[in-house]
Amino acid sequence: MIIKSPFRTRVNGLFCAAISAVLLSQVAQAVKRDEFKTTEEIAFYRRHQAFAETVLQAEPASQENSSEIPHGASPYTVVGGSVHLDGHTLIATVQHASAKVPLRVEVIFLKNGTVRVRAQEENPLLPRYDDTQKHVLREEGNNLEYASANDLDHHYRIVNGVKVHTVRYTNDHSAFSVRITEDPWSLTYLQNDKPIIELNSKGFFHLEHLRPRPDPEAIGDDISGEWKETFLLFTDNKARGPESFGMDINFIGFEHVYGIPEHATSLSLKTTNKVNGGYDTPYRLWNLGVFEHELDDPIPLYGSIPFMAAHNADATVGVFWLNAAETLVDIAREKRSGVDDDLSVVNTHWVSEAGVMDVFLMPGPSVADLYRQYMSLIEPTPLPREFALGYHTCRWSYLDQEDVLTVSEKMHEHDIPYDVIWLDIDYTDGMRYFTWDYSKFPDPVAMQKQLAHDGHKLVTIIDPHVKRDSSYRVWKEGNENGYFIKNNTNTRNYDGWCWPRESNWVDYLNPEASKWYGEQYHFDKYPDTTADLFIWNDMNEPITLRMPESTAEKDVKHYGGWEHRHVHNLYGMLNHKSTFEGMLTRESPRKRPFILSRSYFAGSQRYGAIWTGDNTADWGYMRAATPMVLSNNIAGMHFSGADVGGFFGDPKPELLTRWYQLGIWHPFFRAHSHRYTKRREPWLFGEPYLSIMRKAVYERYRMIPYWYTLFREASLTGIPIVRPMWMEFPKDSDLFAEENTFMVGSSIMVAPALDSDLTKPIDVTFPSQENWYNMYTHASYLAPIKRRFVVDLAQTLVYVRGGSIIPTRERQRRSSAFMKQDPFTLYVYVSRNGTASGKLYIDDGESYDYEKGAFIEREFVYAEDKLISRPSPLTVESPEYRTFSDKMSKVRIERIVMVGLITQPTVATIRESDVEREISLDYGNCRTGSDCVVCNPAMCIGNDWEITFN
Ligand code: NOJ
Repeated sequence: MIIKSPFRTRVNGLFCAAISAVLLSQVAQAVKRDEFKTTEEIAFYRRHQAFAETVLQAEPASQENSSEIPHGASPYTVVGGSVHLDGHTLIATVQHASAKVPLRVEVIFLKNGTVRVRAQEENPLLPRYDDTQKHVLREEGNNLEYASANDLDHHYRIVNGVKVHTVRYTNDHSAFSVRITEDPWSLTYLQNDKPIIELNSKGFFHLEHLRPRPDPEAIGDDISGEWKETFLLFTDNKARGPESFGMDINFIGFEHVYGIPEHATSLSLKTTNKVNGGYDTPYRLWNLGVFEHELDDPIPLYGSIPFMAAHNADATVGVFWLNAAETLVDIAREKRSGVDDDLSVVNTHWVSEAGVMDVFLMPGPSVADLYRQYMSLIEPTPLPREFALGYHTCRWSYLDQEDVLTVSEKMHEHDIPYDVIWLDIDYTDGMRYFTWDYSKFPDPVAMQKQLAHDGHKLVTIIDPHVKRDSSYRVWKEGNENGYFIKNNTNTRNYDGWCWPRESNWVDYLNPEASKWYGEQYHFDKYPDTTADLFIWNDMNEPITLRMPESTAEKDVKHYGGWEHRHVHNLYGMLNHKSTFEGMLTRESPRKRPFILSRSYFAGSQRYGAIWTGDNTADWGYMRAATPMVLSNNIAGMHFSGADVGGFFGDPKPELLTRWYQLGIWHPFFRAHSHRYTKRREPWLFGEPYLSIMRKAVYERYRMIPYWYTLFREASLTGIPIVRPMWMEFPKDSDLFAEENTFMVGSSIMVAPALDSDLTKPIDVTFPSQENWYNMYTHASYLAPIKRRFVVDLAQTLVYVRGGSIIPTRERQRRSSAFMKQDPFTLYVYVSRNGTASGKLYIDDGESYDYEKGAFIEREFVYAEDKLISRPSPLTVESPEYRTFSDKMSKVRIERIVMVGLITQPTVATIRESDVEREISLDYGNCRTGSDCVVCNPAMCIGNDWEITFN
């Protein structure tokens, strides 16, 4: 199976090195840069750069006296008299001064203040790909809530001879205006008459109109790359010719922008103009499996979400560039001289290869507002299976049935709870997915039953490449039905290469193919699987080894005749979706699937989790994990995490231990490693590492009620689960670039130890005016304050914000499955002014009955010496609610720990269901001597109750 490549030139390296590197490499080296395009090798980007250069060099129009008219020399102007309001859409015809191809530019007003701008030819020569919205937007984009025409007021003025239109929008929720200039065409979004986002104020708006194909001689070498483009040995034949577009989007009054995953870069995005340590290449959005990717590098990784947030002390705003073709984003910072002060501006330039220009401007201004706006487009992450929040143990590969069961047993023996054990590609019969290698796994069902009996689940990998083998049912059916992606002439299957060698790829754009593929997960198709088996979709960028950049060529054909260039960034999501739908329909009543995908796009959050791909057992990669997971959360992909320990290489025990301590605070917590690394289950490292890793895993399990409640919140609001510090402390500009310390929900601040030098101090900034409590010692810090700590390997710096109530479950179990009837402990961290509040959400953790009210959601409030538990406003007294609360009627609160009380009450009076009782308070068994513990108050978790402290 291994192909050795004794030599590697740039060209022939592509054939040999890709696969040999993947198969042979044991230790991460450096990314093989020559196998990936430089930005100079991306023709459409080059053309837009040249266009932008011309604009910058051109004489600006002389409008010095007006700040309303952009000074950039854009050649695009509005055709006189074309601007008109049609319902909730302002329509204009815009054209380039010399090309004179009329473009229809629509400015669409949504009820929540979002403005959508779409542009394409009025009469395109060929239809442009416009289905990205169908795959990404809630209800395929058919039910967006538009502004009522009555709330829109359109008028225009002439400023310095230029017509300037203003549409003012006022309703009960929002008031804002959009200003559009005619010459050149530009758009400014204003909030309270202050510009916040500008389009085309630099003049980079440019749309390459579709055009007739010139004669072959005229195309010639085509150095502009409009009709063909060669990279290494591959020629991209562009049957449709150029169809790219780009535009500058500028954030006025902002210094920091975030998001546009996935890149291994800083949280606050660096510039791409080399200024002040910026990169010299743009952020590229083009889902790739960059083998041995490096850090601090805008090279594109496995997923793409073209969502960018900008934040300053007054507002958080966002832009969503809805396009799944190759997209590049340049970022520059600028100071504009303002009336009183210089104004900070982040200028961004977005360029996409194909499709329709479709961009959403979201005004915030609060973080909650921004996510309300964004989620009204893409939908929030649904509630996951509860087990998925536990500890996942993975390796490429657990070798056989005995290995799996031994690892499981060892976890028990060493008292390490875990929920899921994973099988990588080697469990299959020769990489024919949906099969088993029975020589290694003689009885998969018995194995799953044993695991299930012990409270565990199994995840198996299913990659999207289908081995080309006429004796393989899946390939045969796919082939006979024409379900595979086609070659560039649309005449036969697109043949490529991956783990099983010759392979084909399912075309998920074809609804029938997607349904068929989903059905392969059904129990009658995927033999020897049980309801305790879940799925991992890997290599779904898709990876096609030996091809340019190890992915499918841009000109291969999908359903409907669309080229791969139009839909590449959707592919992983559509594979994930098809799996999700198959898993959803494999049993009745439906249960929530759990599927991990490597590739993703906006919308993937609906189908499961993702991870950050192949990292390395190195401190730098551990440090990079948090900004990457935060960027995903900012972009709406909440359920994400990094391979704990690092995929390539062998972590030293200190690194692995620290990584467990960090990984438990990321939403998805899975240890994973490359096939040529040493085994690294925690017990293999001996003491003190084993005990410390075990303690970290316990901590994850203790906090599952808090995590699950956060997922519930995210499923309703879309607000990130793990949050950069600025999201919780939006006024504190010192925190705008903080990327090591982060918040888990709004209550917990994690300041991880990220350095190999264990004696190196960690600086912690305690923000706001609040008390912060060390989660373990309960030592308190009155913010704002900075402190420096040196922590030994067993210690971690985790703080709870005063004013929080955190629910936990503290019994140590084998897995979350055995915790369902466990009692709760409530930690009440009292604020400076003597109050606290928190939430708890529980349901059965697996079904959809919560949609009918089968959940318990409590709000806890502490004020004036009284702690109360009341139902959340979303609680409904449905039959399903009653059934579920009956099931939970024995689940009690076994302890309440009051942290930071100023007085020392001696008695707690508990009133529950009109019955009153008293309990004396325990100060003996507390952590700092000042905590007051209510031992076994025994209220039922679903009941209303109150406790008065005297
Ligand atoms: C690549 C994935 O990123 C990695 O996690 C996995 O172990 C290998 N493929 C083998 O399946």
